[in-house]
Amino acid sequence: MSSIDVRRVREDFPILARSVHGRPLVYLDNAATTQKPRSVIDALVHYYENYNANIHRGLHTLSEEATARYEEVRLKTARFIGAPASQSIVFTRNTTEAINLVAHAWGRKYLRPGDEVLLTIMEHHSNLIPWQLLARNTGAKLRFVDIDDEGRLLWDDFERLLGPRTRLVSVTHMSNVLGTINPVKDIAELAHSRGALVLVDGAQSVPHLPVDAGALDCDFLAFSAHKMLGPTGVGVLYARPGLLEEMDPFLGGGEMISRVLLEESTWNDVPWKYEAGTPNIADVIAFGAAIEYLEGLGMDAVRAHEKEITAYALRALAKVPQVVVYGPRDVDARGGVVAFNLGDLHPHDLGTVLDRYGVAVRAGHHCAQPLMRRLGCVATARASFYVYNRLDEVDALVEGVAEADRFFGHVTTRA
Ligand SMILES: Cc1ncc(COP(=O)(O)O)c(C=O)c1O
Repeated sequence: MSSIDVRRVREDFPILARSVHGRPLVYLDNAATTQKPRSVIDALVHYYENYNANIHRGLHTLSEEATARYEEVRLKTARFIGAPASQSIVFTRNTTEAINLVAHAWGRKYLRPGDEVLLTIMEHHSNLIPWQLLARNTGAKLRFVDIDDEGRLLWDDFERLLGPRTRLVSVTHMSNVLGTINPVKDIAELAHSRGALVLVDGAQSVPHLPVDAGALDCDFLAFSAHKMLGPTGVGVLYARPGLLEEMDPFLGGGEMISRVLLEESTWNDVPWKYEAGTPNIADVIAFGAAIEYLEGLGMDAVRAHEKEITAYALRALAKVPQVVVYGPRDVDARGGVVAFNLGDLHPHDLGTVLDRYGVAVRAGHHCAQPLMRRLGCVATARASFYVYNRLDEVDALVEGVAEADRFFGHVTTRA
């Protein structure tokens, strides 16, 4: 029995009523982006219809209302992830921008040639390319922790690579391909004991698990609103108190300054020092409605629901001949992301067949090309679940995969 009343939840998501190719939509691409409940859509419309104004600047009523709502969401966000203060929350465009902010504002200030940034082989390109660019600019080196055959981080490898020159460990909390949930609290403890900071890429964890930044004791945590029922165009960077104050600004312009002279300037207080220009006011406000929705369900219930559905999917896919599933077999060690291949069939062909069944999955390298190479494939199909998914939608997925196996049998049995 699910810990979430899925039937009730589905009524809140208008898009779930639509059909695709004459079949009910089965949306299993939640790791890419999630659907939005009516309350989030309404919050956007309500803002534009009632108090659209620029924030932090005007003394008029509309601006004051918009500023108050925007800043309320900062407080809500802080509460949602257990941040000690709302000043620890910077709004960005997405996880990618949050990580780039750290690479620029912290990395360029503190990294010296020969310093090391420790990553893992399972990182999304968003948590790889910013460090490659930074390494090129600073002379720092990148190191990578490997995984075992089930896609779990090799702890010995981590301990070995965490050296005296490691300044930062930047690691995904939950892999967007393997589903692996990494032990970020233990990672932070060991990294701190050896003098390194820790950035947690929470793009896949914050939407799906109870995450407490204070309890994890990480230094930075990055995540995206659009992967947790909120609108696109809003990301969050949490930073441990004190760090934002000492780092350099990222983008320069209006809002982030205090006093401006022709040749030099001083900076606004944190977190506004990192929010240059007019922010994404409407979407931040609507993100507040997404947080409220998830709080209403309870993150423990969200996690329990996804565990149930993932366990069911793993069992069902294992019964289809030629299917190879990646990631840990134990659902306690993984989230609701199931990447798989069907023999030698290209996942794009598989995705196309599934789409004819109304089933939306992702097919490709999932912005994790080094991980694909490590797994020995070029791409995978990926089903990913959320609060509105039902077990019978997994049945539709598996039916579609079995149909693809029959249709492309000559290809799939070659494996
Ligand atoms: C683990 C992980 N990190 C980072 C990102 C990047 O998120 P965004 O595209 O919202 O910046 C994603 C998106 O899929 C992800 O899954």
